[in-house]
Amino acid sequence: MKYILRIGNKPITIENNILQLTDAPDLVTTGDGDKYIGYEHIGGAYSGNRKYIIEERNSIVADYISDIVGDGVFLDLACGDGALTVPCAKCGIRIIAGDISNGMMMILQERAKRNNVSLENVTLCRMNALTLPIEDKSIDCVVANSMLHLISNPQKVLDEIYRVLKKGGSFVCLSDAPARKSIAISEYEKENAEYSRAVGEIYDTYWEELKAYDVSAKRYSWKFDRESACKTMFREVETKVIERSMQYADRLVDRFLPRFEGRGFSDQVDVPSEIHKAVSGKVVASIREKYGKRFENITYHGIEEDICIYRYKK
Ligand SMILES: C[S@@+](CC[C@H](N)C(=O)[O-])C[C@H]1O[C@@H](n2cnc3c(N)ncnc32)[C@H](O)[C@@H]1O
Repeated sequence: MKYILRIGNKPITIENNILQLTDAPDLVTTGDGDKYIGYEHIGGAYSGNRKYIIEERNSIVADYISDIVGDGVFLDLACGDGALTVPCAKCGIRIIAGDISNGMMMILQERAKRNNVSLENVTLCRMNALTLPIEDKSIDCVVANSMLHLISNPQKVLDEIYRVLKKGGSFVCLSDAPARKSIAISEYEKENAEYSRAVGEIYDTYWEELKAYDVSAKRYSWKFDRESACKTMFREVETKVIERSMQYADRLVDRFLPRFEGRGFSDQVDVPSEIHKAVSGKVVASIREKYGKRFENITYHGIEEDICIYRYKK
């Protein structure tokens, strides 16, 4: 559902409960200006079969954030499909949840609905992190999880975050470096090695084949040193580690494969959909053939990583 409000001469559209506060495109990968990878084209492939679940670790982070925010305002910047917004909404705090992708925020709303979480304290906004439509010094806490690496100029987003935070406000960061190593369970060394080999074969062959189409992986700021940047900007940093030891087993066909086939990894953004279908289809078929029946059961056995929180105070 779509309707339009007017403030002075400025029309503001509300589309599916989302305030449309920017006309910026979902995705910018060409041109001379700042570039970024919005997830409109990724949608449900990002979280796959976990997209409507509230994960325990996100509930733990939500409790931490809600203690900081109290009766103030929390900005979940690049909220995506609501992995954090929804458990935070469950805590009852006031939230501005913003993303450049309406589609991701539709999933967020469905996630809330399926978990009986009210979004009455949540203002959903389509916004561009590079020019936040938010007043200076008006926010108590910001999280921008797993997004700086998607922006060609991440420092500009950090400057925006700093600008909107109140004095004494907090920028809360989690460990979210892309492609970081997961913690393997040693007694499954052989199985895990097979998993890593199969994933590597799929990914490497895919990008190798795509060279014929002149397409390569798009990675903007995967090496951006957020911690150093924040240390120069913020007054102090407080760190907290919440230990986790839960073991998990991920079948390749349940997690990696649907995301890969759904073009759900950000570095696949420039692969045209038809070419992706043809190349991924061919690559996956050849790897399936190579591993035979075993393919279905290739599994990674890992231990959930500890939750490391960095709280930068303005
Ligand atoms: C990897 S997802 C992370 C989502 C969520 N924060 C989480 O931790 O699950 C990255 C999100 O950043 C959003 N994004 C990318 N560029 C953006 C921009 N310039 N402004 C706002 N959001 C952006 C994408 O649309 C996507 O939803």
